[in-house]
Amino acid sequence: MKLPNIKTSLPGPKAAGLIDIDRDHVSPSYTRGYPLVAEKAKGLWINDPDGNTFLDFTSGIAVCATGHCHPHVVNAIKKQADKLLHMSGTDFYYTPQIALAKKLASLVPGDGNNKVYFGNSGAESVEAAFKLARWYTKRELNIAFFGAFHGRTMGALSLTASKIIQKKHYNPLIPGITHIPYAYCYRCPYNLSYPDCGIECVRWVEDTLFRTTMPPEEVAAIFVEPIQGEGGYIVPPPGFHLELQKAAKKYGILYVADEVQSGMGRTGKMFAMEHFGVVPDIIALAKGIASGMPLGAMVAKSDIMVWEAGSHASTFGGNPVSCRAALATIELLESELMENARINGEYLIAGLRELQKSIECIGDVRGKGLMVGVELVKDRESKERAGDWRNELIQKAFAKGLLLLGCGENTIRFCPALTVSKEEIDVCLSIFEETLLDVTH
Ligand SMILES: Cc1ncc(COP(=O)(O)O)c(C=O)c1O
Repeated sequence: MKLPNIKTSLPGPKAAGLIDIDRDHVSPSYTRGYPLVAEKAKGLWINDPDGNTFLDFTSGIAVCATGHCHPHVVNAIKKQADKLLHMSGTDFYYTPQIALAKKLASLVPGDGNNKVYFGNSGAESVEAAFKLARWYTKRELNIAFFGAFHGRTMGALSLTASKIIQKKHYNPLIPGITHIPYAYCYRCPYNLSYPDCGIECVRWVEDTLFRTTMPPEEVAAIFVEPIQGEGGYIVPPPGFHLELQKAAKKYGILYVADEVQSGMGRTGKMFAMEHFGVVPDIIALAKGIASGMPLGAMVAKSDIMVWEAGSHASTFGGNPVSCRAALATIELLESELMENARINGEYLIAGLRELQKSIECIGDVRGKGLMVGVELVKDRESKERAGDWRNELIQKAFAKGLLLLGCGENTIRFCPALTVSKEEIDVCLSIFEETLLDVTH
């Protein structure tokens, strides 16, 4: 069984030298949780410049869906790089962008009658969705959720309600956005329990919001993550999205699914909204779509994506090399990886639930496929958030060669590549257990 191998103190001397230079010349706005310098990687295994080997359960923030440097993706990139690097799909035509648009249009939930706008990131996909919703509806108001993360450009940031540091000093942002509570059943904002709650969080929108402060016929769109990502890997209850979309439809409000983190097979289905039986009007994609090459896509129903030439575009969006990487990624997802995410996701969740039986601070284990969160609490009764334990655990796991990330205030996220094996999950679980016991005893 392959295990992490840490030979130096961390960071090792070469990594430390690079971090010194970084400190002098790279933007201090980045949020490095621990000093990992990635030199090369394959599958779930990363080597740093000092010869240390780490097991990666972050996949570069849920991006390297096919594992690091999957040969099928690397070959597609190399072949395309030899042929055509760039010609700007906004002014000219080329095969990879056309082929990927056709593929994505047929993949998203619905009747296949869709069109695709290409950008370079999640924020750009959301930004494009924001602009299209306004363009199409000619309405000025929008709804988004507390805990949501939609990106850091001014439009996407206006929809975001994740951490105050992301918004501080950037006001005024785009007006007309109302944030409402997400369906966070472990900490129900209405102190109710599913299913007796009758999905109060949706009822409140209709019975209170739309009757008091927000005229529904002035609302362009509801922006929602199918499973809230940065907010804590929060899975809403069945019926939440269907009921909310039903309410939206009554007033001609668009349902915009931000699948940037949850999409492209990660949850065991191509798009997380498929778990909830919802066909969104617009879908924002990025992260895992091209296995690490920069690419964003906004897919909308054809009768919604009717904006005129010149109304929105991007020089680099839909780059030929990124589009080829995405097509190769989708081939792998369809042939085996989505199924692997489903099966091994269940295995990971079962392993974590087993640990929960004996480890008191594991308050909640939740997720779909390989989008799995573990919420740490000081005690199960009060559910007091154990953010300090979570942060310490991540540091100590790193020292043992396991790469993890947090999300929300006190949740650990497990978002390994969809290639992850049961053996790799076993290694992760064993380091996780050992480290958690160390932190809490
Ligand atoms: C749901 C969601 N939307 C949008 C974004 C922004 O993506 P990017 O960082 O590529 O702009 C993220 C990034 O974490 C995300 O998780």
